[in-house]
Amino acid sequence: MAKRAGFATRLGAIAAAVGSAVGLGNIWRFPYEAGANGGGAFILVYIGCIIVMGIPVILSEFIIGRSTHSNMKSALRQLSPGKKYYLFTYLCILGSFVVIGFYSVVCGWIIEYLYQAALGNLHGHTPQEYEAIFMGLVSNPWRCVGWTVIFLILNFLVMSRGIHKGIERVASIMMPLLFVILIVFCVNSLLLPGASKGLEFLFYPDFSELTMRGVLDAFGQAFLSLSIGISCLVTYGSYFKDDTSLSMDAATVGVLDTLVAILSGVMIFPAVFSFGLEPTAGPRLIFEVLPSIFQQMTGGYIWALLFFLLVFFASLTSTISLSEIPITFLIEEHKLSRRVAILWTALLSLILAVLAALSFNVLDDVVLFGKSIFDAMDYAASNIFMLIGGLFTAVYVGWILDRKVVHDQLTNGGRLKATVVEPYLIFCLRYVAPVSIIFIFLYLTGII
Ligand code: PFF
Repeated sequence: MAKRAGFATRLGAIAAAVGSAVGLGNIWRFPYEAGANGGGAFILVYIGCIIVMGIPVILSEFIIGRSTHSNMKSALRQLSPGKKYYLFTYLCILGSFVVIGFYSVVCGWIIEYLYQAALGNLHGHTPQEYEAIFMGLVSNPWRCVGWTVIFLILNFLVMSRGIHKGIERVASIMMPLLFVILIVFCVNSLLLPGASKGLEFLFYPDFSELTMRGVLDAFGQAFLSLSIGISCLVTYGSYFKDDTSLSMDAATVGVLDTLVAILSGVMIFPAVFSFGLEPTAGPRLIFEVLPSIFQQMTGGYIWALLFFLLVFFASLTSTISLSEIPITFLIEEHKLSRRVAILWTALLSLILAVLAALSFNVLDDVVLFGKSIFDAMDYAASNIFMLIGGLFTAVYVGWILDRKVVHDQLTNGGRLKATVVEPYLIFCLRYVAPVSIIFIFLYLTGII
């Protein structure tokens, strides 16, 4: 097997994992999912899910990765010799492609908005006009596909030049900046007339607004946002050094990621209510609301540019981590050269992403399970692939994996204490995660 490099510093390792977690899932998807599912109650379920399933599964992926310093397939082979658990890797690879498929389309929209912001076009319109601008973009196949392809080319160029580690370093400066900017936008949003309605929507849990489908959406959103269930964090864990505290790292990733999602909500919803927009607008929500927020601000032109640039970097660190899943697999398991592995991954990603981009225009009459191609990929990625993957990971580490491996990883071979963390982790993995996920699937398929 190729020699694997580790992260030079503990901060570098965490920054990379946070870079994977923080992305469009937090800034674009979280607000619209919360908006479509009634706000406060959704967020409560979401946070609960992060605590009892999300962070435990992050920790499990780190444990699998660091105990073997390998990708998912060879890790499962080493941890369970002679067993077929490693076949789960194929589901992870498939899942990663489905995420890349729809995700790159939205990354394309971000570049278009960065471009429009640079031209000064995101200024001087009504919220309704911004809706028309967005619809104009997605209904134009050339633009929608063009930006998506440009994004993917950028992504795979970064990977093939081996500069993704450099990008991650840049991102560890950009991320805190994004955080600060989000706070500035939140303050601006909160000063808008009628902002309190948005806060109430976001934080007052009205459970009559939450359906079982909404609960499933909250679980799926949490898994997508944390990058868990498709072995992404196994790869990162495999690069971690043996003396970092995995539980601290998992908690840090979970908490920071959730903070960014909540801040995005606080940025979007006061503005949604103040401008009289619909919280249920779906995927186009932030593209209608953000320009209206920018134009209220002094120096709105610069703010808009800066914001889309930072979101672009946040998405790039996420897609880098996503594409690393099939690439590492092809290199280490199928002995392809890095170049060839990148080419195959890029080609497949491109096909899926173009199909997703065309589903807003040329292919808008193609329906898969009652959804457009884009929506079907988006739904399948988080609500099916990542949840089933999370379920597998929880059951594997909770029930199947040798407890000594878990204990060793949590305590770094006895050097750290895990008296509370270990029983908590095992309880969540053995009971809470499987029961919740299986219950919701059975309920929604009408079996119970
Ligand atoms: N967590 C990323 C986000 O919230 O935007 C998306 C993602 C990245 C999902 C990497 C899965 C993954 F493996």
